[in-house]
This record gives sequence, structure tokens and C-alpha cells, in this order.
Amino acid sequence: MGTLNGKSAIVTGAGGGIGRGVALALAKEGANVTVVDLNGDGADETVALLTGLGADALAVHADIRDSAQVDAAVSAAVDRFGTVDILVNNAMGARGQVAFEDITDDDLDLAFGTGPIATVYFMRAAFPYLKNGYGRVINFRSGAEMIPLGGMGSYIAAKGAIGGITRVAAREWGVHGITVNSIAPSAMTAAAKGYFDANPDKLKEVLSTQSLQRFGDGEADAGRAVVYLAGPDASYVTGTTISVDGGGAFYS
Ligand SMILES: NC(=O)c1ccc[n+]([C@@H]2O[C@H](COP(=O)([O-])OP(=O)(O)OC[C@H]3O[C@@H](n4cnc5c(N)ncnc54)[C@H](O)[C@@H]3O)[C@@H](O)[C@H]2O)c1
Repeated sequence: MGTLNGKSAIVTGAGGGIGRGVALALAKEGANVTVVDLNGDGADETVALLTGLGADALAVHADIRDSAQVDAAVSAAVDRFGTVDILVNNAMGARGQVAFEDITDDDLDLAFGTGPIATVYFMRAAFPYLKNGYGRVINFRSGAEMIPLGGMGSYIAAKGAIGGITRVAAREWGVHGITVNSIAPSAMTAAAKGYFDANPDKLKEVLSTQSLQRFGDGEADAGRAVVYLAGPDASYVTGTTISVDGGGAFYS
């Protein structure tokens, strides 16, 4: 028995990285999880891990930049699990290491399309179900936005927009019993680790700006923070952002 027994959760970008860790953490608390990802093989692998735990899970191969595919993903979750109680907007793509003056139209389309625009698409499509008396939305921002990290202009602009979306939806949707919060992670799991493996000097630099000098884990760190926000202990928490960043933003 977990704190989320029988709840229906959608996790975007759960075909790998932090999203997979979040899906595992939610499933271990008893949630049914719809795993949405552009990477269909990754989504299938996550579902195999979840069903291996005895959880019920569904893989949806979708590009979240397309509102029709987002609507179809939410419908698939509802067809399978009856409703949507928990929506985790985790997926995002962006090009990094770009000087601010060199940001391209494509960079903006990618960061905003996969970030705030997809977040609004999912929140809009899931709203009729989230107002079922329990709704929880957890959006992903970034520690890079809080610092802010140079060379990440399109990404940080898009993450800032997710902060605004979180606050305004929290204000408007409180009357429907829906909480809307964000997580701001930093230095977590595979994607960032791959970059740091290739750039050991940057690794030293980044870890030297963390209070807790280690990488975070998608399941044990980000996933458990999502479980808190999605669970009964956070029923009076809305419109806020939890930094899950080893103290990086606080340190800077
Ligand atoms: N890893 C970190 O250290 C870190 C730091 C700060 C913030 N974050 C944020 O946490 C979240 C997860 O990060 P991550 O490192 O696990 O990322 P990741 O790149 O490892 O995984 C992102 C997932 O999203 C999916 N995805 C990308 N574009 C998509 C699209 N158009 N449609 C559907 N799925 C798509 C990818 O296939 C992938 O499975 C992101 O919002 C990221 O900005 C991560």
C-alpha cells in the first residue's frame, strides 16, 4: 500500500532520465503511470520496469510539441485508467552552450515548444479530469534558471515561463481543488552526467557550487519530491517551487 494507491499519473519524458525515476517513484507509491515520450523504445522500457514492479503502466509515443498528440495522450490515459489525478510535465528539449546573441528561431521553438507550450497543452487537456477533487500538477523548472547559467538563454527563458504558468494556474485552479507546483532540479542523472563526463572541468566547477557535492538521482531525489507534491502531505501546498538541486541555487 502506498500514498498514491490507484491514482492515475501522467509523466512526460518518462522514457529516460529523471522522468523514468519519477515514474518509478510514483509507481512504488501505488500510482498507475502513463509514460509519454518521443522515444517510443524508451517509453516501452520504462513501462516494462514499472510492470515488473507490479504496477499498471501505459506507454504513449508522442511528440508533446503537437497539441493533437497531447490530447490523444491524455485520452489514452483516461481510457486506460479512468481519469488523470497527477500530471508531471517533465520532458523538455533545448540546445545549450549558445551565446545569447546567437539564439536561433529553432532554439526558441524547441525550448518553448517542449517546455511551456507543451506544459499548457497537457494542463489544458487534463483539466476536466484534474478537477475530479484530487488534481495535482508538478512542472519541471531548473536550477540553471535560478542561478542563472550562461549559454542557456532559450532554455532559461522557457523555464521562467513555466514558473509563470505554475503560479497563475495555482491561483486559478485552487477553486477546483487542483494544486500546481514546480520542481527545480540541478545536476541530476544521465543527460547532465553525460555532458559532465565529457567535460570534467565543468563537473568540478558545477559540483564546487553545490552545497551537497554529488549528482542528484532521478528517482530518490526528484522522484520523491514529486511523490511529496503529488501526495496527501502536500494538500495545502500550491504555487510554489521546490529546489532539488543539492543546494546549488542557494549556494550561488
Ligand atoms: N538533468 C538535470 O540535471 C536537470 C537539471 C535541471 C532541470 N532538469 C529538467 O528536468 C527535466 C528532465 O531532465 P532530464 O535530464 O531527465 O532530460 P532528458 O533529456 O534525459 O530526458 C528528457 C525526456 O524527454 C523526452 N522528450 C524530449 N522532447 C520530447 C518531445 N518533443 N516529446 C516527447 N518527449 C520528449 C526525451 O525523449 C527524454 O526521454 C527537464 O525538464 C529538464 O529541463 C534536468
